Amino acid sequence: MKGIVDRFDRRIDYLRISITDHCNLKCLYCTPFGGRDRLAHSEILSYEEIARLMLAAVQAGIRKVRVTGGEPLMRKGVVELCRMLSGIEGLESLTLTTNGVYLQELAPQLHDAGVQRVNVSLDTLRPERFKKITGHNLLSKVLSGIKRAEEVGLHPVKINTVVMRGINDDEIEDFARLSLKKPYQVRFIELMRTNGCGLDDHESLFMPVEEIVKVVRRVGELSLGPAVDSPDPARLCSLPGGFGRVGFIAPLSWHFCGSCNRLRLTADGKLRTCLFSEKEIDIKGPLRAGDSIAELADIFRLAAAQKPHGHSLDRTDIEKHFGRDMQAIGG
Ligand code: GTP
Ligand code: 5AD
Repeated sequence: MKGIVDRFDRRIDYLRISITDHCNLKCLYCTPFGGRDRLAHSEILSYEEIARLMLAAVQAGIRKVRVTGGEPLMRKGVVELCRMLSGIEGLESLTLTTNGVYLQELAPQLHDAGVQRVNVSLDTLRPERFKKITGHNLLSKVLSGIKRAEEVGLHPVKINTVVMRGINDDEIEDFARLSLKKPYQVRFIELMRTNGCGLDDHESLFMPVEEIVKVVRRVGELSLGPAVDSPDPARLCSLPGGFGRVGFIAPLSWHFCGSCNRLRLTADGKLRTCLFSEKEIDIKGPLRAGDSIAELADIFRLAAAQKPHGHSLDRTDIEKHFGRDMQAIGG
């Protein structure tokens, strides 16, 4: 089957599907300030619609799917959606990014439905701080969820830790140590500038990856190889004697636009060409108007053809180029 290669010679084979714009946590860097109107039920793609779009996406050349939100595990029937998607011939990888709150109960069912791995957002290991960052007292639920995911074989569990200076940078070593004890991939993420959320002082909160690496080196020797041209946003390495690995995702310092392989489908049926581009192509309209799978596959190709060369994260007027809030895009 022919894949999609865009005009910058990147192979586009990864689709992130946001299935809801709703989330049960209110993380500082993600939640829209002052709230936001939620998408109406009629605007959101049904699971049957998502599955039909996936047939088209696979026909176009998509091989990997990541289900995101908002918080994807909040949407009723998510396990059934995963079962539908994992049954699509030609799809090689089905994964999910979650805040982990419902993982304890859903991990076995997700695994059974064909989900291969989960990435869990977790910015602190301290209960009172968890409440400060997310607005809720749910750290122990998230930790149990991670444990359960590991037990049922959603392996390796990746932990996404967004580092914020003055908020959780004093926990970098604790997170690094977690990778010694557990078979997780603990990934430190540079804070990206987003608009309209509870954090408006990006400059003072931003901690560059080089600094994060230095702190991790206090825990153990780290041989960080040269950046490879890989579509995986994380540069991974292991601390000596660790069961797991540590990784670094640096959308600003080491941006990975040159090897970006992804498109995004929003909960209301728009194809987004880059996390930080306002460019969206409507696919729900054609889908609901009865377009064939082949015609819908052409819309995926069209979206890929319009992928920008890189993001505009270094612009200070980013809000003008963002369009949606992070919570509605799913990172
Ligand atoms: P795998 O590598 O498949 O495990 O997933 P992932 O790391 O791409 O997905 P995840 O949802 O765990 O995201 C990890 C971090 O990468 C988050 O901070 C995302 O916001 C960020 N990220 C994911 N895709 C992109 C992208 O296209 N551009 C940028 N700038 N950041 C991204
Ligand atoms: N900067 C970096 N990472 C972010 N995420 C959400 N907002 C940001 C941001 N401003 C991450 C979440 C989640 C992933 C999908 O995106 O931590 O793990």
